[in-house]
Amino acid sequence: MLLKDQIVLVTGGGSGIGLELSKQLAALGNTVFICGRNVEKLKAAEQAYGLKVVPADVTFAEDQQAVLKAIETAHGRLDLLINNAGVLHAYDFASQEDAVSRIESEIGINAIAPVTLAKRALPLLSLSQAPAILFVGSGSAYVPVAGAPVYSGTKAFIHHTAQGLRHQLKDVGISVFEVLPPVVATDMGTAMTSRNLKVMEPADLVSDILKGLASDTLEMVPGQSRQLRLLSRIMPGYLFRQIAKTRFH
Ligand SMILES: NC(=O)c1ccc[n+]([C@@H]2O[C@H](COP(=O)([O-])OP(=O)(O)OC[C@H]3O[C@@H](n4cnc5c(N)ncnc54)[C@H](OP(=O)(O)O)[C@@H]3O)[C@@H](O)[C@H]2O)c1
Repeated sequence: MLLKDQIVLVTGGGSGIGLELSKQLAALGNTVFICGRNVEKLKAAEQAYGLKVVPADVTFAEDQQAVLKAIETAHGRLDLLINNAGVLHAYDFASQEDAVSRIESEIGINAIAPVTLAKRALPLLSLSQAPAILFVGSGSAYVPVAGAPVYSGTKAFIHHTAQGLRHQLKDVGISVFEVLPPVVATDMGTAMTSRNLKVMEPADLVSDILKGLASDTLEMVPGQSRQLRLLSRIMPGYLFRQIAKTRFH
């Protein structure tokens, strides 16, 4: 797909992978809208990189609609929706007192919101000449991380859902991309340690994602995720036990 003069929405674009994606896409000459819950982070990104900011919690239908409305009013179309916002909660399922609220938060933000936002964005995407959706999944779709079971489950959900939507939306001309990153050095990624995991820098990941978008690589498997994909097929039990050693802090 073209990566210039596009109207792009990046959820969770105020920090981490989303901010790096937004910066690099804006630098290529695209108009980039970002949303998130922390208004101070969004404002800082707006001032530093000329991004368009709409404060929003992606789990609320009215917030999703407000973001889409802002883009519709300003540009009348959306070319690329990047479903990036996500949370990872590591907890002991049996003993954690507030496990239920963490479960609901992970499933709401990581699984339900990307799909409902994609559905609500379809009318605006259909006004683009070459519309696309990118789901930011995770290598944990290939192998669950035992310390973050619900997070891993949401990313397996995204992996399956992206494949089904790719097949369905081809008929209406919408390209569905997915990237399955390994551990990335962001607030989320630096909260885990394991000698089995190789950490990728956000700038390197985004450089791979932009190459993948430009070359219409619909499923992108960067860095160590390629190894995880292979091992999950040939020795899943061994891989599971190694990744289960990951520690969260
Ligand atoms: N870092 C890794 O190791 C890694 C590996 C594989 C995949 N991923 C995936 O990559 C994506 C980005 O992760 P990251 O590492 O950049 O994490 P991060 O640094 O923690 O950033 C997450 C972003 O999501 C936003 N967000 C969270 N909940 C939201 C909500 N309800 N509504 C709107 N925005 C929300 C946050 O902004 P606010 O707090 O302001 O809302 C923040 O900007 C996630 O989907 C994650 O699962 C990360």
